Amino acid sequence: MASSILSDCSSCATSRLLPLRRALHPPPPRFRPSPGPAPSPRRPLLLTAAAPLPLLPRARRMAALSAAASSADPATVLADASAKIIDGKLVAKQIREEVGVEIARMKDATGVVPGLAVILVGSRKDSQTYVRNKKKACEAVGIKSYEVNLPEDASEYEVIKHIATFNDDPSVHGILVQLPLPRHMNDENILNAVSIEKDVDGFHPVNIGRLAMQGRDPFFVPCTPKGCMELLHRSGVEINGKRAVVIGRSNIVGTPAALLLQKANATVSIVHSKTKNPEEITRQADIIIAAVGVANLVRGSWIKPGAAIIDVGINPVDDPASPRGYRLVGDVCFEEASKVAGAITPVPGGVGPMTIAMLLSNTLDSAKRIHKFK
Ligand code: GUN
Repeated sequence: MASSILSDCSSCATSRLLPLRRALHPPPPRFRPSPGPAPSPRRPLLLTAAAPLPLLPRARRMAALSAAASSADPATVLADASAKIIDGKLVAKQIREEVGVEIARMKDATGVVPGLAVILVGSRKDSQTYVRNKKKACEAVGIKSYEVNLPEDASEYEVIKHIATFNDDPSVHGILVQLPLPRHMNDENILNAVSIEKDVDGFHPVNIGRLAMQGRDPFFVPCTPKGCMELLHRSGVEINGKRAVVIGRSNIVGTPAALLLQKANATVSIVHSKTKNPEEITRQADIIIAAVGVANLVRGSWIKPGAAIIDVGINPVDDPASPRGYRLVGDVCFEEASKVAGAITPVPGGVGPMTIAMLLSNTLDSAKRIHKFK
C-alpha cells in the first residue's frame, strides 16, 4: 500500500519554503510553519501541494522547483538504510584542533597571533548568535577577534570606514561582514571594500572571479562550500571525472560549490528554480550538494544508488513532539536518501559545524600568507 511506503518527508509541505539565507540561519522558536493539506487519495503525493501561506518572492521561485518533487516514485525507495553517515561535527572538531596546533606553532616561531575582525550591523538575533559563535571558536583556537557592532540605521559609509581601518591594521588578517546587511545597504559596495587579501569569507568579486577561472586561484574560498568539499575529501569521495549536481545557485553556497567541484574536475550541473526536470538531472549525479533552503526537496527517487550527498539546508519544520515545537531538517529527505545513497551528511551535524571551522582555517591561512610562514 502506498501509504505504508510514504516517508516522514511526505508530510513536509512544499509551502515551507524559506530563502536560503533564512535556511542557513534558522529563525527563533516562534517560527511555526502550518501543516500542508493531506495527500490526495488518488495519487500518493510525496510532497503535498503548497498550503495557502503567503509565499516570499524567492519562495515563489522555488515553488516551481519543489513541484517536481510531487512526482517522486516511492517504489524507488529501498528498504534499508545503507549510506555511510558523514559526521560533520567530528570532522569540524578535527579541523579546529588542527588549526589550533598550527596557530600555536606559528605563534611560537614568529610571535604572530592571527586576528579576525567581524562587523555586525543591526540586531538580528540569528546574526548575533552566529557572530558570538564565531568569536567563541576563535578564542578556542587562539585567534584574536575584533568586533564592531553598528546600529541598524548605520550608513554604508560607516561600515566601509571600519573595513578600511581593518584593511590597514596589521594585527587583523581576516575581515568578515556578517550578512544579511540591512536593506538600505548595498552588499556589493561593502564586500568590494574588503581587501582581497583579508577576505576570509571569499565573497569579494575578485576572489569569486579567480575561483571561476582556469589556472587562477582565489586568496580565499567561501567557508560553507569549502566545508562541503572538505567533507567529500575527508570521506574519501572521488570527485575527479564524476558527475555532480548542485541544487541552488546562491552567491554564498551554490555558485561557489559548483565552481569548486568543477575545479576538482567533476562535470557539474546546477539545478535551480527554472530547471526543467530537476529530478532526472539530479538522478545522474554521483555527487549532490543541496543548498536551496527547501525542506526535504530531494527525495529518494532523485538519487542515483551509491551517490554522495552533502546537504547544506537547515530548515525548521513543525514538530509538536519537540519541546521547541519544531525540528531542523535538510533539503534532502534523509530517511529516504540514506537508503539509496552511498554517503550522506545529517542535518543537524553535517555541513553546519564546518562553516566556522573553515573560517578559522581561512584566517590561519591568511596570517601565514601575510607573514610568509610555512
Ligand atoms: N551569513 C550567512 N552565511 C554567512 C557567511 O558564511 N558569512 C557571512 N559573513 N555572513 C553569512
